[in-house]
Amino acid sequence: MARNLTQLELLLELEPVAEQNVNRHLSMAKAWHPHDYVPWDEARNFAAMGGIDWAPEQSQLSEVAKAAMITNLLTEDNLPSYHREIAENFSQDGAWGTWVGRWTAEENRHGIVIRDYLVVTRGVDPVALENARMIHMTNGFNPMKAIRAAGAGDQLVDTGFLHSVAYVTFQELATRVSHRNTGKVCNDPVADRMLQRIAADENLHMIFYRNMCGAALDLAPDQALEAITDIVCNFQMPGAGMPDWRRNGVLMAKHGIYDLRQHLEEVVMPVLRKWNVFERNDFGARGDEARNRLGEFLQRLESDCARFEEQRDRALAREAAKRDLVGAKG
Ligand SMILES: [Fe+2]
Ligand SMILES: [Fe+2]
Repeated sequence: MARNLTQLELLLELEPVAEQNVNRHLSMAKAWHPHDYVPWDEARNFAAMGGIDWAPEQSQLSEVAKAAMITNLLTEDNLPSYHREIAENFSQDGAWGTWVGRWTAEENRHGIVIRDYLVVTRGVDPVALENARMIHMTNGFNPMKAIRAAGAGDQLVDTGFLHSVAYVTFQELATRVSHRNTGKVCNDPVADRMLQRIAADENLHMIFYRNMCGAALDLAPDQALEAITDIVCNFQMPGAGMPDWRRNGVLMAKHGIYDLRQHLEEVVMPVLRKWNVFERNDFGARGDEARNRLGEFLQRLESDCARFEEQRDRALAREAAKRDLVGAKG
């Protein structure tokens, strides 16, 4: 049986690939400035500066758009947690260190611009937002801890780099989908443009991690697929555990911002296809076992999607009927 590569061996072997991909990223990434995406004209002072404080009627956003904006922003706010995760697992040396620094700096823009937009447009209650940020950041987020807290994967052994790079590949793509669809429900071209800009960043980040994880799969197929399978079968969104996570998550799923089918078809499957997981023939017994486990999980997820959609359609129809009834009475 092939011996597992150590974390250090993986990082050393993959460093040339990291360097290529850092260079690729730098050649593709566009410089952009958060202030260019915020309608500053709409701003006014709050009470502490002689203006008026936030009130719900000032917001132009629907309940769904608010839930999605808050979830996405709190997720971005938690950057120090993700920074810790990759700084600890990718090392600070050479191309790895360059990536960690550059990626962190790019991510920071996302939280800056969304917060500026929400405060300037009075889209959400800034006090509630700040309270939620304090709670969420104090708790922090660690993907493997979140997986264990969800009750799944008690047996999982965190291998560090491999679990980390697999997780962030799916996380970046998940945030891309979520930002993109949030832009569509905001009913404001300014918000849509801002969130499209962020989603484009997330896509480039995803490609970096997907390439690195793909290279790990070529280098140590069994070991890497075990980590990928652990992550896919137990995936927790980076927002898991934030205040109102359930309520907001349900609203987002119900209105097509991020639901189970999008998770399966727009996040999980495109990446697994890119890695050729189901066609490759370089796995040993451990890799085959992991691939079977993954295949069975994906089948279950497919039937969960169908079940969720039936329930959602029924719930939406009930709500529409209720609205019609109220409309007819009015
Ligand atoms: Fe981001
Ligand atoms: Fe990102």
